[in-house]
Amino acid sequence: MKTTGGSDDQKRRAAERAADLVSAGETVGLGTGSTAAFAVRALGRKLESGELDGVRGVATSFASRQLARDSEIPLLDLDEVETIDIAIDGADRVDSDGNLIKGGGAAHAREKVVDAAADRFVVVADPSKVAETLDRAVPLEVLPAARTLVSGRVADLGGDPVLRTAERKDGPVVTDNGNLVLDCDFGAVEDPESLADDLSATPGVVEHGLFVGLADEAYVGTEDGVDVRT
Ligand code: 5RP
Repeated sequence: MKTTGGSDDQKRRAAERAADLVSAGETVGLGTGSTAAFAVRALGRKLESGELDGVRGVATSFASRQLARDSEIPLLDLDEVETIDIAIDGADRVDSDGNLIKGGGAAHAREKVVDAAADRFVVVADPSKVAETLDRAVPLEVLPAARTLVSGRVADLGGDPVLRTAERKDGPVVTDNGNLVLDCDFGAVEDPESLADDLSATPGVVEHGLFVGLADEAYVGTEDGVDVRT
């Protein structure tokens, strides 16, 4: 899986500490991205060693499902779960209030369903993700046919929408749900709640990457430990 931002050691420390929060028998939301992947692998090792019995995962993307299968974590379909005990997921930005920008892996629509449903949502990150304000483009998953109209609305809201393209393919990124992604630069997002409301109210936006008030804790891996933010 592609690695972004801080060091792998920082990501691993945060993710493995978060995996220690999982208890036997729990249903666990499995996030997407290089940091969450360390948690998925750690859970797989705990299951294999018998330290955690009866744990079942709920994947947030095709990639996290594949990794969970490789790690031999039994999976439940998102469609069949009624409760999720804990979700462990990465983020592209974490602000001082614990609000997030997610969607670097174009998986934020399913991630939001899983993370919001979890009794406890733990963000795992490295220090490069932490900022006073959310100062990164906000990904929008949009219906392909609504791309132009959504782009216009984003511009009205003060944003600059850019269609996300695949690195090694001559074409757009297509999400697991068959939609496109617009990365929308609004500068530093001073009022995430208000922007989140405006984006949610825009027809054609399947989901936006602002996660406002959803995270319970952020585990940030450092050079020698983990900084826990609540
Ligand atoms: C995927 C996400 C990821 O969690 C986010 O992009 C962080 O990824 P990484 O841990 O690789 O930096 O939101 O949609």
